[in-house]
Parts: sequence; structure tokens; C-alpha cells
Amino acid sequence: MSSFRMNVMVCGGTGCMASDSNEVIQSFEKLIKEHGYSEEIQIVKTGCFGFCEQGPIVKIEPDNIFYVRVHPKDVEEIVKEHIIKGRKVERLLYQEPIKRERIEQHKKMPFYKKQLRIALRNCGLINPEDIYEYIAFEGYEALGKVLTSMSPMEVIETVKKAGLRGRGGGGFPTGLKWEYTRKSEGTTKYMICNADEGDPGAFMDRSILEGDPHSVIEAMVIGGYAIGAQEGIVYIRAEYPLAIERLNIAISEARKLGLLGENIFGSDFSFDIRLKYGAGAFVCGEETALINSVEGKRGEPRNKPPYPAQKGYWDRPTCVNNVETFANIPPIILKGSEWFSSIGTEKSKGTKVFALAGKVNNVGLVEVPMGTTLREIIYDIGGGILGGHKFKAVQTGGPSGGVITEKDLDTPIDYEHLMEIGSMMGSGGMIVMDETNCMVNISKFYLEFTMDESCGRCTPCRIGTKRLYEFLKKITDGKATMEDLDALKQLAYMVKDGSLCGLGQTAPNPVLSTIKYFGDEYIAHIKDKHCPTGECKALAKYSIDPENCVGCTACAKVCPVDCISGKVKETHVIDQSKCIKCGACFTACKFNAVIKP
Ligand SMILES: Cc1cc2nc3c(=O)[nH]c(=O)nc-3n(C[C@H](O)[C@H](O)[C@H](O)COP(=O)(O)O)c2cc1C
Ligand code: SF4
Ligand code: SF4
Ligand code: SF4
Ligand code: FES
Repeated sequence: MSSFRMNVMVCGGTGCMASDSNEVIQSFEKLIKEHGYSEEIQIVKTGCFGFCEQGPIVKIEPDNIFYVRVHPKDVEEIVKEHIIKGRKVERLLYQEPIKRERIEQHKKMPFYKKQLRIALRNCGLINPEDIYEYIAFEGYEALGKVLTSMSPMEVIETVKKAGLRGRGGGGFPTGLKWEYTRKSEGTTKYMICNADEGDPGAFMDRSILEGDPHSVIEAMVIGGYAIGAQEGIVYIRAEYPLAIERLNIAISEARKLGLLGENIFGSDFSFDIRLKYGAGAFVCGEETALINSVEGKRGEPRNKPPYPAQKGYWDRPTCVNNVETFANIPPIILKGSEWFSSIGTEKSKGTKVFALAGKVNNVGLVEVPMGTTLREIIYDIGGGILGGHKFKAVQTGGPSGGVITEKDLDTPIDYEHLMEIGSMMGSGGMIVMDETNCMVNISKFYLEFTMDESCGRCTPCRIGTKRLYEFLKKITDGKATMEDLDALKQLAYMVKDGSLCGLGQTAPNPVLSTIKYFGDEYIAHIKDKHCPTGECKALAKYSIDPENCVGCTACAKVCPVDCISGKVKETHVIDQSKCIKCGACFTACKFNAVIKP
């Protein structure tokens, strides 16, 4: 690896790439070359830094200066001022929203202060396409240690003692799963990495694979050694092209260095990895459906037992682990189980990565020790609610989870506590909602998703999710009765109890939790034919307040169906029989004269 006096680290994560970070990189490369610094200054395309809201991110090392929202046109100033003259570009530093102070170093920013990055340790720090950079940060040391000084059972014991639990949603103890697979009869075994990541809004696994693919590869080899497998498969959705590209580069580099393939580290252990692309069906993230899909069959779940550890891929013992679960393995091996188990709560050890999204200021990827409260994540890290609005609820666990309200914001996050308050950890999607979000509509959104994603194998889920969705639609259309609400609840329990796999068993959770915490909103839709947030269009009734209307005509000009009448400087009126409730008049009126219910 060559040495450079300065590294310009530019985020090459999907979020920043969508805001032109590739052009930022190209500008840096061009200008650095023009100024004759190519031998001294290296441009590194990293993985996601986490603070996607402020992207594209550029970090200059060793100065440790963190620039945010860098556009291609800003690059010249960074080169001329910072790189050539050594003067930082103040206007591109992150500005703290309350005191308006500029902060140079990411560790001093509220977004990063409470984070602890174990699974994301290298994301934003290294070039994921260069194996030597991973090696420079202790990469493949854990594998070396395992293959030269530990027996498979010692590896398993270390992972068990660390208390690592599966980050894919179920929270099953990883060491125990490895032990079961190891002890299952048979000489051919498989290690599968579940990179299907189907939760809407979740992008934890994609970011790890884009930012640090070797951490997952190294962990799969360690896991393969522990369970007695020679082959690993990464099941990854085809919609993740960048993660696929970087994984392919990482696998071929690891092979070249003898870190994958025959006799790894000169030992008698051989292991290789291949990719299998998924078509983006949520149910294919369920481990048995995933195995069917890898075998080239329909992605439908199998009955359990037998579990994959007993009978998985082609009926051979198979261990399926999530991307983030794997990313935790190398540090556990290197730093020890006591170090890892000292982080977190009594039953949930280590950290958890969350994709923080929705109505929060700092949308991004955060990794916090288990036991951190939701309030800390939403307010201290997330910077509070967008636009000064009021917090209403947060959904964890994606379509399988539930809403959590203000009263539970101080609950320490771990697998057990989240279940106690009616939600679940899930894989790490965290969607924040404010007072403008209608909770019936939210539950309808999730039901539409699970209805579409149901594989159709069992009736309670196939028909049940459709009926649940229809009830919710009836409510948001203002056509439901209180009897419908009772039937909705009853059916929700039937779908939960009667479905074959986790998709159907958890699909009603968003309905039940929103009814529990926001029952009054359901009743307002049903009895008063009123959506308290105004989000449900069918129930919206736009009218014009004569007190405020100045007759500017702006609303009439934007109305797509010409149903607003009135002369200039006179009060305008909406013809309710023609109004299609598009809301354009509400947005156009600058005098707060258009009233939305
Ligand atoms: C409908 C459904 C979708 C799932 N999707 C994923 C997924 O995208 N990624 C994942 O790792 N686990 C997913 N799981 C959980 C897996 O079945 C399995 O428990 C997990 O991959 C095991 O890995 P872990 O023990 O490391 O968490 C899903 C489960 C269900 C029921
Ligand atoms: S619960 Fe739904 S997704 Fe699961 S097997 Fe039944 S139909 Fe398929
Ligand atoms: S835009 Fe507002 S103020 Fe202007 S005519 Fe319409 S309702 Fe009245
Ligand atoms: S909501 Fe749309 S259709 Fe109705 S009056 Fe306003 S602009 Fe016209
Ligand atoms: S993608 Fe750049 S910070 Fe997340």
C-alpha cells in the first residue's frame, strides 16, 4: 500500500452517490492531478459515514476535518483553501442547529457523540475496494487467530459468551446457532449470509456491504470454520448493485491473497463464497424461503422444524446469519467475549445499527449500544423532529413491528424491552412520525406492503392480509362502521395465530399497535368521518375562510377542476360537489384562508 500525506475521503454510499458524490470524486481527482499532487494526496471513495442527511460527506485526513453537503462546485475551494493553503473551508463545516456553531470533527457532533461503531467500524474509514486498507485496520487478523490458535468449539464458545444475538430480527443467540449446525449430522454444511434486507426504509446491511464488505467475508470464513462448512453463499437482492459490485471485488481480492479458497492461511481449512441474487421479495428474507430461493425454487417458507441448522440448503445443515450479525464477529474474536458482553443490557449485548428515517432532522445510519433510549436516538442523535413539529410515534421492526409513543421513549432499547412495549427490534428500521401522520393510514401502508409481499402459501396470510387491508381502506375512505373495527381486530388475531411464517404472524402488528395507542383516530375516521390529521384524502373537506380570504385568486388558478369561484378582491368559494381534494389550493394560499380539516 502506498503512503500519502493526505487522504480525501469521499462518501461513496448509495445516499451520497444519489447527491452527486461521484462528481465530487471526479472533481477532486481532476484538480489534484492538475495541481500535481497525485503522488501525495489520495482520493478515497468510502462507504456510508452514517450522516446521510448531510451528504455528500468529505473527510480530510489526517486533519480530521469533516465537510458536509459538498457539491461538485465546492471542490475547487476545498482544494485551493484546505489542501493547498491549509485553511479549512468554514462554510462547509457542519453547523449545529441550535447554537449555530460550526463543528470540525465528526466525533464532536451530536449525531456521533452517543454512537458506538462496532459493526460500522470501517464504514467511512477505508476504501472498501482495497483489501489492503481493510488489512491495515486489523482486517483478517481475527481469521488468522482463529485458524492458527483456536478450535472450532473455542470459536463457538467465544461467540456464545459474547452474547451476540442475530441482528436479522429474531435475536437468536448466534453462538448457539453455530453450535447446533456444527453438531448436526453430515459432512457437507453451508454458511449463508442473509443480505435480503426487505424492510421498507432499512439500509443497514446494504451500507455494511458497501462500506466494509471484507468484514462480512472474514466473518463468514470464521463461521464456516466453526460450523464445519466449506462453502458460503451471500443471498443478496439484485437491487443492491453497488453492494454486489464491492462484494465481488472483495471476494476476488480475498481469493488472490489466499484468504478464501484452498488451505486458508496455510491451514488445512478451505472455504469459498459465492453470491446468489434475490429478486427483492420480502418473504425471501425468511431463512427457509431464502434457502428455497437459493435452490432455485419458489421463495416460499418451509415448515419448521426441521430448522436450517438440521436440514437446510439441499437438506444439509445450514447456518443462516444476517449481515450485521457477521460484521460483529471479527471484533469479538480479536477483543474477546468479555469486551463485547460488557456493552449493552443484561440480555442484549453489543450495539445495534438503526436506519433512522421519517420526520426526524438527522436521517441516517446510527449504531448505538443496546440500552440506549429511543429518546436519545430521536432527539440527541436524530436532532429532534423535522420542522419543529411534535413527535407522535416511532415505528421499529418495519412491517412486523409496532408504534411506540411518547410515554415509552425512555425505554432502553433491547430485544425484550421493545417486545414489552408492543413493538420489536426487527432488523433496524426506525421510522419517526409527527402529528401530521395519520396512524390509520400508516397501518394501511404496512398492510398494503405485507399483502403484496405475502407468498400466498397459507390462507390466513394470503386472504387475511387482503381483508385487513380492505378494512383499513374502508376506514380511511370514511365508509366503515364500528362493527368493521371489531371485525378488523378479530381478523388481526386470526392472521397472527394461523399464519405459517413470520411474515403473516407479524403482519397484523402495525394494525393492533395503532389501534391500541391511537384508537381515537380510528373512531374519528369511523364515527365522525374525519381524519384528524387531514392525511386521508377521501375524508378531507377543503373550504375557504371568508375572514382570511383576500380574493387574490391564487387558489382558483391552481385548481385542476376549476371548482373555485370568486372575483378579484372578493371572497372565493369551493364547489364541494366538484372538488377532488387534491390540496393544491391549500398549498397555494398565502393567507391561511383555505381550511383543511
Ligand atoms: C418475512 C421475514 C423477512 C425476513 N427478512 C430478513 C432479512 O431481510 N434479513 C435477515 O437477515 N433476516 C430476515 N429475516 C429473519 C431470518 O428468517 C433469519 O432469522 C435471520 O436471517 C437469521 O440471522 P440472524 O440470526 O443473524 O439474525 C426475516 C424473517 C421474516 C419472517
Ligand atoms: S404466512 Fe404469508 S408469507 Fe408466510 S407462508 Fe403463509 S402466505 Fe407465505
Ligand atoms: S388563495 Fe387564499 S386568499 Fe387567495 S383567493 Fe384563494 S382562498 Fe382567498
Ligand atoms: S382541493 Fe383541489 S380540487 Fe378541491 S378546490 Fe382545492 S384545488 Fe380545487
Ligand atoms: S451515504 Fe454518504 S453518509 Fe450515508
